[in-house]
Formats: sequence, structure tokens, C-alpha cells
Amino acid sequence: MEYYKLNSLYIEVTHACNQHCRHCYLDGGIHKKCSEMTTEQIKKIFAEFKAQGGRYVIFTGGEPLMRSDVFELLDCLEILGLRFTFASNSLGMNRERLEKLASYRCLEEYFTSILGSTAEKHKAISGKDSFESVINAVKFFDEKGIPTFVQATLVNDYLDDVEDILKLFSGFQNCSVKITPVASLGCKSEMEKAESGDIIVPEEKFEIFHKKLNDLCEKYPNCVGDDNILNYEQISEMINEYSKNPLYSLCWNSVCVRPNGDLSFSYNMNNPFVFGKAYETIKIPMDEKFFGYIELLKKADELVLTEAKNHEVEYDTAIDNYLSVLK
Ligand SMILES: C[S@@+](CC[C@H](N)C(=O)[O-])C[C@H]1O[C@@H](n2cnc3c(N)ncnc32)[C@H](O)[C@@H]1O
Ligand code: SF4
Repeated sequence: MEYYKLNSLYIEVTHACNQHCRHCYLDGGIHKKCSEMTTEQIKKIFAEFKAQGGRYVIFTGGEPLMRSDVFELLDCLEILGLRFTFASNSLGMNRERLEKLASYRCLEEYFTSILGSTAEKHKAISGKDSFESVINAVKFFDEKGIPTFVQATLVNDYLDDVEDILKLFSGFQNCSVKITPVASLGCKSEMEKAESGDIIVPEEKFEIFHKKLNDLCEKYPNCVGDDNILNYEQISEMINEYSKNPLYSLCWNSVCVRPNGDLSFSYNMNNPFVFGKAYETIKIPMDEKFFGYIELLKKADELVLTEAKNHEVEYDTAIDNYLSVLK
């Protein structure tokens, strides 16, 4: 049997969090009790990932600092020589932790999130005073020459904050900002979804937002990363590119592991396809199920493309929605 070769691994080590953001698709929070892999199970995944030729790990959550073994797991990546991005909301990033993180040779990038252009606005979404911690963490790593990646996740009322947010980070040497409008609430509880409907950016705003971002990309050329709102031409170009590869969109060779070990190809939470438990094995056989999934991805892409004729789409969310329907 031939197995799918993984280059990169996106692993959510926990869904617990020291914040409970209004927008979070994970329904995070300190109350969150979901089954989590043990230290040894995660170490086994890293070792197997390395042995099959893996190179890069995105270490994320929830909030990874909620796990008491977080540095033991990062030590494991360092010993294996696996380069990694560490993602955190920065709230728990005190000086000692920042120094410890920066000491890893394998730390490729620090990822963090900003939710508004001022401390008050950020707190209104995150519920915590983490704005200064975000800025401090970015400053700390930037001074050490370690790249940072800030995701500006914006609720509907904050779309006009984009430029002020870019100004906060444009002075750093090696910091990219990715702007992500909140287009869905993933697997938040039904009660919270009902309460937070107002924070979702409606589709009719995508086009104007997309244009604004393109202008800002020109104004702040080294600072703005891609956004995830795409238009018809962009999706069509992407599909064209994918079609040249027999593994279609999976040609990035990346996989996602959830805290309970579920292995899938989706970074957000609504994709129903699971390819086993990662702590048993991360080997994904290239069998009927695997190629069936690729066929479904092609169909989902076609549906998203048709939808994009009417308005721009949040691509990842739209794909996962269609996959659930097609299943
Ligand atoms: C789930 S968090 C994990 C890392 C860490 N807890 C943090 O907040 O940076 C990863 C990113 O997803 C973003 N995110 C959460 N819910 C989202 C949603 N409904 N739509 C778009 N992005 C979302 C967060 O703002 C954050 O930038
Ligand atoms: S977005 Fe990040 S910080 Fe906010 S609740 Fe979700 S996991 Fe926690």
C-alpha cells in the first residue's frame, strides 16, 4: 500500500483556552473539556511524522499554553529537528516563556492574533486584556530577528479598523499581518451562534473588503499577507493549478490533527472527513477512500466556483460546507 507523504503537520494540541473569544470557531474557553492526546501520544506523532519525511509543524490550539507539557512537546520538536510555528493568543506569554520559546533553533515563526485596533476593542471580543501582550510578544520576537505572523481576525463592526491595525505592525522588520473577516462561527454552541450573529461579516461586504485589502497590499507591500476571501478569477485559477496534480488540492501535503487525535485535511472545523486517529498512525493509505475524498473536493470546488459568480467567497469555509452536503 502506498501512503500519502506529509510535509507539514498542523496540530491543535488542545481546544482549551484562557480566553473565550466571541468569534472563536472552536468554542474555546477555560470551561472547555474535550478529550486530549497524552504527551506520549503527541511525541509519537512527531516521531512518525519526521520518520516519513515531514519537515514543518504548526503547533496551535485552542491556546497551547494551557497544556502543562507544552515545552516538553516543543523540546521534542527541537530534538527531532522539526521546524515549527508556535501559535498563541499571547495572554500567557510572560518574559520567561518568551525567552524559552526564542531559545529554540527550530522556531520558525511566532503566530498571534489581534481582534481590534485598540486595547478596548480587542478586549470586547477576547474578553481579556491581551492587546498589550500581543504587541509585546511581536516586539520581542522582532527584536530577536524571529519572524512573526499576526492574524487580524475582524468582526463585522471592525472592518474599518484594517488600516489602523496595519499601522500597529508596519514598523516591525519581519511581521506579516493576515486579515481575516469572521465569516462563520464553526462549531460554537448553537446558543452562542444565536447570540453572536451580529459579528459575522455578511457576504455582500466581501467584495468591497477584498478591494480595500488589495489597495492596502500596495500601500503596505511587505506587511499584508493573503486574505481568505476569493473572487471568481482567483478560484478558477487555483482550480486550474490544482488540476495539474493527481493529488488535486492535497498536493500541499499538509494534514491537520485535532486534540482528540482526529486526522483530517481541514483547518477549520466543519469538514466531516476523518482519516483515523493520528496517535495510532499518521499514515494515510492512498486507497479508495482517499481518492474518493479528492473527487469530492473537486465537486465542492466546482460548487464554490459557481457560487463565486454571484459574490466573493470565504473559500475554506465554503469548501467545508459543500463537503458536508456532498457527503
Ligand atoms: C483558533 S486560534 C488558535 C491560536 C490562538 N488561540 C489564537 O487565538 O491566536 C487561530 C486563529 O483562528 C482565528 N479564528 C477563530 N475563530 C474564527 C472565526 N470564526 N473566523 C475566522 N477566524 C477565526 C483566531 O482569531 C486566531 O487568529
Ligand atoms: S480565538 Fe484563540 S484565543 Fe480566542 S478563544 Fe479561540 S483559541 Fe482562544
